[in-house]
This record gives sequence, structure tokens and C-alpha cells, in this order.
Amino acid sequence: MAIDPALHRLSVAPMLDWTDRHFRYLVRLCSRGVRLYTEMVTDRAILHGNRPRLLDFDPSEHPVALQLGGSDPALLAEAARIGQDWGYDEINLNLGCPSERVQGGGFGACLMKEPDLVAECFAAMREAVQLPVTAKHRLGVDDLEDYGYLARFVEKLASVGVEVFIVHARKAWLQGLSPKENREIPELRYGWVYRLKEDFPHLIFVLNGGVKTLDEAGAHLEHVDGVMLGRAVYEDPFVLEEADRRFFGLEHRPQRLQVAQAMIAYAEARLEEGVPLWSIARHMLNLFKGQRGGKRWRRYLSEHAIRPQAKAQVLWEALEQVTKTPTLRTIASLPKLEKPLQQCS
Ligand SMILES: Cc1cc2nc3c(=O)[nH]c(=O)nc-3n(C[C@H](O)[C@H](O)[C@H](O)COP(=O)(O)O)c2cc1C
Repeated sequence: MAIDPALHRLSVAPMLDWTDRHFRYLVRLCSRGVRLYTEMVTDRAILHGNRPRLLDFDPSEHPVALQLGGSDPALLAEAARIGQDWGYDEINLNLGCPSERVQGGGFGACLMKEPDLVAECFAAMREAVQLPVTAKHRLGVDDLEDYGYLARFVEKLASVGVEVFIVHARKAWLQGLSPKENREIPELRYGWVYRLKEDFPHLIFVLNGGVKTLDEAGAHLEHVDGVMLGRAVYEDPFVLEEADRRFFGLEHRPQRLQVAQAMIAYAEARLEEGVPLWSIARHMLNLFKGQRGGKRWRRYLSEHAIRPQAKAQVLWEALEQVTKTPTLRTIASLPKLEKPLQQCS
């Protein structure tokens, strides 16, 4: 069944250690339409690890995709099936991570050198699940930086039924660059992603890499079906403030104070389950980025929420640091804080 390109218009990138379920919950409060991706989880971890810890998510996170790492068709198929049973909306395969550990495991970006094996992996996963199975890849790796090679790679995967390609618009160097450098140094070539869309108009292309604002995303959407933002959202979740109205036709416009209050209610529930406050609070540090009081908020959380026995009360105290600021109080026409909102309007 053909996938609706509108579902991919705007998404938040999979980011190891960052896009865990707590951060995804925060992002969902900021945008109801944006598509979410988990951190990469390896097929072996899913098969042998603590599945609830690796896979559980909040129902509000939908639509949410599970990103897998692996290169064994049978193991990936089994992991994809488990992901489907767990309730995910999409299975995505990581073909872009250049870290040494991932290369050592024979998956991630180095798989771009092995299109036949990658096609086998997709064929096995597609056989195992009814969900869309999508690819996230680079423009190339090492000396394989050639548009013709990239187009043949896409064509090969399309031949086994892959319809959605999330393209990090730079290549990866497998030797000599750290993962961080590999997200900064190789040149961004958005034109190659635009060209893929021209050459394969029936496939869905999502552009990723270096997009910082919704204006930039809007400009790319003139050429491709979707845009995926990563670091920009982590560094300032309110970069998504206008996303629902602009890209999804939804009337929702988040407010920082309400998002903070909803996160406090969420943290209280997770603390009851034994989750340390810092696991949640660390993702909230940038919630008031660029606002009056935002630095005090960040400082207060960094000092107090990190303590092992910290309670959700610390978040209320941090919020008080923000609301002290008269300017913000005026801007947000501050709602009463005694009663936490369960949901943001
Ligand atoms: C901390 C961090 C962790 C990442 N982990 C993953 C990952 O698990 N899987 C993946 O496909 N890409 C991962 N990436 C790459 C992002 O998904 C994205 O492709 C990259 O950051 C470029 O997009 P951006 O410029 O919008 O951040 C990670 C990036 C960062 C910053």
C-alpha cells in the first residue's frame, strides 16, 4: 500500500542518548504532528535485552518510528516483528551511523558499501511486518561519493519495496572522523537530495542535515517530501512552536509554561516507577532557551535535579526561577501554577 508523503512532512531525527522516551514526550507536547524516531536500538539488544526498557513508549508519542541497527536479515526481521507488536508505526534501518562501535558490528553507514546485503535486510523485514520499513542513509561513504552510486543504491532498495528514504545530505568518512565531526565536516549537498526526488518522483524523500529553522524546512519542502530536524530540536524544542500550524494544519500552538507543567506531571508519574529525575530533567534544560529566566532555569536544574534523590518538586522550584521574571510573566499571561496541567492546550 502506498505511503502518504504528508506523514513525513516534518520529523525529529533519531539521536542516541537524546531521543529517548522522555525527550520524545517533551517534543510531542511541542508538536502534535511531527513524526518521532527512537534512538537506534540494535536487533540483538531487542532479541536478548530488557524489552520494556528498550521499547516502551507513551501512547501520546504516536506517530513514532523504531530505528533499528543491524545487518543480519533474519535478526532484523525478528526485531522488526517485535517492534510492530510493541505498537510502533514504522521500522527504520540505520544506514548512516559512522561510529567505530557500529562499524565494528558491521552495520550503520558502512552498509552503504553493500547494497545487496541491505536489500536482503529490507526484503526480510518487509516480509516480517505490515508496517512501512524505511531507510536512513548518507550520500555515500569514504570515496563512494558519487551521485550515480547513490541513485543505484536507492534504486536497489526501491526494487525490494522501500518507499521512504531519509537522506542525511552529506557523506560519512569511516576512518579518521569522530561521529560528531561526521555530522559537521563533510559538505552538505542538498542538491543531491532534490535530484533524487526528481529522478524517482514516485518515492518519498526526507531531507536531513543542518536544518535549523522551520523557514529553512519550508524552503526544502519546495523540493522534497519531508524534512527531518535533529540537533536544532534538542538545542531548542520550541523551534517547533509553529510546526503544527504551518505544516500539519493543526491549530495547536504550544506554550512553554504549559509544556513545563505537563512535563512535571509526567515526571511525577515516572518517579513513582523509579525513574531518576535527572533522566527526564536533562532533556528539559533548553525549554526556556533564549527567554528571560532561561539561564536561571537551566542552572537551577543542573544543580538540583541531578541529585540522586531529587523529587519533582525541584522542577516546580526551577519554574519559579523563570516566572520571577516580570517580562516572561507578561508574555505568557502566566496561568496559576498550583495545579499542574495534565495536557498542554
Ligand atoms: C547525539 C546524536 C546522536 C545521534 N544518534 C543517531 C542514531 O541513533 N541514529 C541515526 O540514524 N542518526 C543519529 N544521529 C544523526 C541524526 O539523526 C542526524 O542525522 C544528524 O544529527 C544530522 O541532522 P541535524 O543536522 O538536523 O542534527 C545522531 C546525532 C546526534 C547529534
